[in-house]
Amino acid sequence: MKILMVCLGNICRSPLAHGILENLSTEKGLNWEIDSAGTGGWHIGSQPDHRSIAIAKKYGIDISGQSCRQFVVADFDNYDHIFVMDRHNLSEVTAMARTDQDHRKVSLLLKNDVVPDPYYDDTQFDQVYKMVDKRCREIVEDFNTPG
Ligand code: 4NP
Repeated sequence: MKILMVCLGNICRSPLAHGILENLSTEKGLNWEIDSAGTGGWHIGSQPDHRSIAIAKKYGIDISGQSCRQFVVADFDNYDHIFVMDRHNLSEVTAMARTDQDHRKVSLLLKNDVVPDPYYDDTQFDQVYKMVDKRCREIVEDFNTPG
């Protein structure tokens, strides 16, 4: 299974989702490939935001080795699922879809909510972590259940 997590900057939310799902799938012995990207290109090559690195560390996950990259059309070919954090990410990514198959790969990470952008609010990182962690646990269970 190849899963790509996408947000706007690829420095706050999607690096957390990337690190959390990578960690959970490895714990379960799954041979999944996880990556993340941003629809925007402002931070290409940067480490995740220090607040995301810190909150992940608090829960035992090291995301400091990740490097920011921008979402590209080829990601539709290279991933089975593309999870986006909010409706803006959804419209940006689906606007780049070439086919119905590309479209079908893209969905909001959360089933009935969006992951809020914590960039301008330091207090939101813990909540973002918990929302993403809960959903990543469901994803691992869902995809791991036969049938
Ligand atoms: P992210 O947060 O999409 O969760 O990585 C943001 C990071 C940077 C910016 C916006 C959102 N920015 O405008 O630089």
